[in-house]
Amino acid sequence: MKKVFLAAGMAAAVALGAGSAEAADAARGKQLMQQKCFTCHYFEPGGPGKVKKTGPYLFGVYGRTIGTWDSFKYSPGYVALGQKGMTWTDANIGEYIADPKPFIQKNTGDPKARSNMSFRLKVPNENAEQAAQRKTDTDDIIAFLKTLK
Ligand code: HEC
Repeated sequence: MKKVFLAAGMAAAVALGAGSAEAADAARGKQLMQQKCFTCHYFEPGGPGKVKKTGPYLFGVYGRTIGTWDSFKYSPGYVALGQKGMTWTDANIGEYIADPKPFIQKNTGDPKARSNMSFRLKVPNENAEQAAQRKTDTDDIIAFLKTLK
């Protein structure tokens, strides 16, 4: 009997998830960022202090102009995008973390533009299931980034 109830509950949960756009989960986004981003990015409040990371400080990055955290020497493409007035919106963050280099190249119009962020969320030859998982992960990461202000 217990098993049947469990199965019914799960079916209901799946149906709910499929019906409405599931709310992004900032707590899960934090876990993902601790796993995937923290090696290179510090993002706790109060500034990085003496913490040295290869990437810029991400606290406050949501809505910030691209390539403008004072204490970081960005690749020229990032600076150029900031000078064009581009900011870190939902769409820009999502496309960027999927694969940084093409994002920088497309938006600068420079096919040789570089990025020193050697990380991407999108696996090569991504299948539909992986794409759906990446969308969830991206939404959760962005939900967490929005809390860092
Ligand atoms: C292997 C190191 C590394 C990892 C892992 C990494 N990053 Fe980065 N990230 C960088 C570097 C380096 C830059 C600056 C690139 C440049 O100037 O060429 C950067 C830049 C950024 C920027 C632009 C910030 C700004 O001030 O304009 C964002 C946003 C960002 N990373 C988000 C993330 C997120 C979210 C994750 C995890 C999902 C992540 N990064 C994982 C190294 C990394």
